[in-house]
Amino acid sequence: MATSRRNFVFFLGIGGATIASLTAAGFLYRAADRGSFSDLQSGKPFVPWREWENRSLAGAEAVALAGTLACSSLNSQPWWLRLEGNIIDLYFRRTSYPVFLDPFDREALIGLGACIENMVTGAEGLDRSATVTLFPSQTNIDHIARLVLGPGVPNETARFLAIGNRHTNRSPYDRNRPLSQSAMAALTRLTPSGRARFSLFPADSPKGQEFADAIVAATEDTLADPSMLAEEFQWFRQTIDQISATSNGLSFLTSGLSDLQVRTAMALPDISEEDFGRFWTHQTREVQLPNTPMFGILAVDDNGDPIQLVEAGRLLQRLHLEATAHGVAMQALGHVNWVADREEARGRNRDFIDRAYALSGGMGQMVLGMRLGYALRPARASPRMPLPAVLVPRMGPRPTPRPATDNMPLPRLREPAVRPPKP
Ligand SMILES: Cc1cc2nc3c(=O)[nH]c(=O)nc-3n(C[C@H](O)[C@H](O)[C@H](O)COP(=O)(O)O)c2cc1C
Repeated sequence: MATSRRNFVFFLGIGGATIASLTAAGFLYRAADRGSFSDLQSGKPFVPWREWENRSLAGAEAVALAGTLACSSLNSQPWWLRLEGNIIDLYFRRTSYPVFLDPFDREALIGLGACIENMVTGAEGLDRSATVTLFPSQTNIDHIARLVLGPGVPNETARFLAIGNRHTNRSPYDRNRPLSQSAMAALTRLTPSGRARFSLFPADSPKGQEFADAIVAATEDTLADPSMLAEEFQWFRQTIDQISATSNGLSFLTSGLSDLQVRTAMALPDISEEDFGRFWTHQTREVQLPNTPMFGILAVDDNGDPIQLVEAGRLLQRLHLEATAHGVAMQALGHVNWVADREEARGRNRDFIDRAYALSGGMGQMVLGMRLGYALRPARASPRMPLPAVLVPRMGPRPTPRPATDNMPLPRLREPAVRPPKP
């Protein structure tokens, strides 16, 4: 059963009177039944984080585990991994990506790039070198990368140490506290990845205002589009049981709420798609954008080139790990590109295609936005599928690598699919 909007918005502004009204026996029973009293960070969906922290795995398995802790759009975890000796093959898990929100695979490829970056950083910290070949197969465009691990020297970099603490933070940030000079210097020193790059700009600059306006407008457009809203809602888990059942997706747990808000939200009856839309817009417009000192844009030369999108993902993850190492919180903001891609897929208007182009400010094509700052609340870890669940069995012949000279970009998926697959 879905709760009403009034109840849900009421919960968002939770205060003493609300809490008092929630202590009825019925509410307590419901809260216990829906898992809202449980430890919010324990159980099966969080095991991969513990395994990494405890160094439970070694060699290629540990490196692959680091890959699964990377960021991904909607926490869709669009990866398959195949391990054989010192070789890790990374494949696009097409059963697990949103087709209306990501008709050209832009976000999925960015997530796959993030997975590669975590594996390379993880390998280095675990005394291995990692040589990466992107799109190594002549026949399989879903074979995203091959990593060959070799001997290395111990290199526990700050980014390596941040792998287990990097979480998307959707809470308010201190808008009056700019990034420290050392954090800014470390971030801007990061090497571009291939033809991917980023720029950071203050939220109170004219560009910052333009960016925030575009994100709000795009969020409203996304949630007003029935197929996009339905798809985003499909990835939203409302109880601990739902989180445990899938070990992916978004939830109240990772929405930047306080413990009390999370427990209350999970105890209430499931919210409707419409209330989810209102909740997400409210958080974006009222909580996140006004409480941010710094925005950023990730861009590539050509957003139709899968190699550049994978490089953008590597850079995004590098940036987030470096930010984490400096105590700086980060949240990716993809709505402008979601709507721009939807416009392109439908071939109707170009409002957000043009806005994304204007925002990129001559840096190429914007592929993602982001916010950065010092968070007022720490972020929680998001669920992860266990490593064995994303391993491809070692069956059949190993794919033949393409010759290194043949580095042709592969075509984007041009036609949006008609129905979203079940996550
Ligand atoms: C391409 C891409 C787009 C994303 N877009 C958004 C976004 O619009 N809003 C948001 O809150 N998080 C966004 N994220 C962050 C993911 O939701 C997040 O990485 C995922 O839920 C896993 O959580 P974690 O980063 O805390 O591990 C995006 C991440 C990627 C890689």
